[in-house]
Amino acid sequence: MICVLGALLLACSQEYTKEVKIIPRPLELIENDQVFTLDKHTNVVFETDNEAVVKVKTFFLRELSRLVERTVQQGKEVRDNNQIKILFNDSLDIESYILKVTEKNIVIESSSYGGVIYALQSLKQLILVNNVSIKSKVYIPGVSIKDSPAFAWRGFMLDVVRHMQSVDELKKVLDYMADLKLNVFHMHLSDDQGFRMEIESYPLLNEIGSWRVDYNTSDENINAYWGRPEQQEGEKATYGGYYTKKQLKELIQYAAERNIQILPEIDVPGHARAIIASYPELSCSQSKTYVATGWSRLNNTLCPSNEACYELMDSLIAEVAEVFPMPYIHIGGDECYRHYWEEHAQCQDFMRINNLKDARNLQSYFIHRMEEIVSANGKEMIGWDEILDGGLAPNATVMSWRGEEGGIKAAQMNHDVIMSPASYHYFDFKQGQSSYEPNLGYAQSLLSKVYAYQVIPEALNKDQEKYILGTQANLWTESISDWSKLTYMVFPRLYALAENAWTHNENKNWDDFINRLKFHLDLMDQKGIRHAKSVFNPWLHHEGNGKEIKVWFTSEITDPVIRYTLDGSLPNGQSAIFTDTLRLHKTTDLQAAIFDGDKLLGQVIQEHFIVHKAAGSEVRLIKGDTESDIQSITDLCYGELLQAGDEHWVQMNTDCLIEITLNKPQDINKVMIHSLRHTLHGLYGIARFEVFAEMNGQFKKVGDTGKIGENYMQGRNIMQNSIECELKEVRKIQVKLYKVDPIPEKHAAGGKESYMKIDEIVVL
Ligand code: ACM
Repeated sequence: MICVLGALLLACSQEYTKEVKIIPRPLELIENDQVFTLDKHTNVVFETDNEAVVKVKTFFLRELSRLVERTVQQGKEVRDNNQIKILFNDSLDIESYILKVTEKNIVIESSSYGGVIYALQSLKQLILVNNVSIKSKVYIPGVSIKDSPAFAWRGFMLDVVRHMQSVDELKKVLDYMADLKLNVFHMHLSDDQGFRMEIESYPLLNEIGSWRVDYNTSDENINAYWGRPEQQEGEKATYGGYYTKKQLKELIQYAAERNIQILPEIDVPGHARAIIASYPELSCSQSKTYVATGWSRLNNTLCPSNEACYELMDSLIAEVAEVFPMPYIHIGGDECYRHYWEEHAQCQDFMRINNLKDARNLQSYFIHRMEEIVSANGKEMIGWDEILDGGLAPNATVMSWRGEEGGIKAAQMNHDVIMSPASYHYFDFKQGQSSYEPNLGYAQSLLSKVYAYQVIPEALNKDQEKYILGTQANLWTESISDWSKLTYMVFPRLYALAENAWTHNENKNWDDFINRLKFHLDLMDQKGIRHAKSVFNPWLHHEGNGKEIKVWFTSEITDPVIRYTLDGSLPNGQSAIFTDTLRLHKTTDLQAAIFDGDKLLGQVIQEHFIVHKAAGSEVRLIKGDTESDIQSITDLCYGELLQAGDEHWVQMNTDCLIEITLNKPQDINKVMIHSLRHTLHGLYGIARFEVFAEMNGQFKKVGDTGKIGENYMQGRNIMQNSIECELKEVRKIQVKLYKVDPIPEKHAAGGKESYMKIDEIVVL
């Protein structure tokens, strides 16, 4: 009786879910109503002696055991049930697999090492839907999967130069990639800010080239990479390092176990400042230089008319080829500043002698020489799409990053292509509304945008399509100074990349992806992996008209339930649901978030909307130069951080004096101004401001910030400065704004004229 009752209770409480949440979505997936129960008697049997398949044994058993938190043994013989059977099936394409889960057994079929690895990854995701911890039995939902990747190249690039990651961190990256069936890990090993591979033939590449003066910052609000000071004589270069060949070989082995190949990139002839700092004779100027501390174009280009460059490349590429078994070597080729060559007599002579029409042809000459070197080492060359400039080398593969055009052009010329257009697949871009994201990126690539990417460009015909090997995403690490920032920028976009690369286009579905993704993000929460929830944040829009602020929300997900509060309290599952535009007539603390029932899906977005005393007041520009509508500085429209084309910012090109006539006499306690900084381009915060109030027909100075030191620094963010005052019954004020003048010589925009952008003069 007790037994029967126990069984009934078990059946009713249902210990497991049968939901299947695999990412990337398999080609064919049929769920059945059975469940396989993995327990201490379950074992794994290899019903084949095919070498490729059997090679997976150790890794398979170790991974499965780790996941189910007990040792799963290899079975000695085939039996009828409670077994995971691995079979060789030579009718399946490379990397394809079949995975069948029934009540009795689990059967995996493949023709390759990779096929078994991918079956294991799908099996792991099936196992994870029933949280395995603390359970003596693991329930695996019944399915029949037949799966095959859409593209052979499924890559992820990590910039290990701008910030360097430890070998253990790189192994974690490889684990994440393996989970999602990605198979090429592209390491960007050299750039202006460091050289990251041990090279024996040219040891200064490591002694000098691997180190820079440390201006790293962990601050997620100030993004100053693009304006760091250059290293000075006598300063010590303390940040950096390089991967030894032993470490790289260990990584390559670790990756290979997971069916991932590692693609090395040595970026030349531009982005070569670390090489030039090590061997200054290789640049046109031949002058001493330092490894760049941050963004820089200074003296960072090799001199193609100097044979010594090719001698170094010969040795360097030979060492790279010896360490990395992948059949390709990436030689960069991007963003090369050719003016160094245009101004160099030796390069000009070289071009004449070699019949090279212009500097583009000289670049192409250099890339052709690189291809010869790469090819002499038994490898094929890949380069960024700039290698098309001046004529493509005969066997080059093109990695298209400046949009799709380079990839389209190369495929039309019958060259292999990897599509990696920045606007979709650059993970250093922000993945949500700028003001509510950590200030780590400089443009936007939302999850929905990444997911919408179609790898095969429409411009290609059927014959040309075959040159598209696949796709990859890239994480440039200028602002990624630690692991938590890295995982934040990568997740969840890596899931979308994986589905673009693996899942056939007709099987992609945004709503279904989001539904599966929620489960994976919950797992990440459980493991404490920082990731963006931005796709589940409401997008907050507003428009002021000087009287009120209209506020509305949109969302990347379909039919979100957006709840909000206007009283400073945190929204919860009972808060008001947003249906129509809100109208704010007074200063309001707005908070909003997307909910699934009571569950908060993303973050709570908070905004302090100020309806201030000068709202809608008449504005007059007494002195100064602006092309914007000056009246809009009292219209209650506030600017967003680095939002391209945000017209809420009023641009001031000179110092200026602005007069505001309040609609009625007011008591004033404070005048506050936000200014936008993007100092790389000369946009600085306000250098100083003064406030004057009209008293008895005369304007009298009532406040002065003095020189605002922090606004003379470099960065990309919004600054807020204010003046406190105590004024009664004021009708008119004047605000005098001073711009940064001159821009400090050593700044990125040194020598240029600065300008300012403010959104509103807030009078409180
Ligand atoms: C690149 O982003 N310069 C390849």
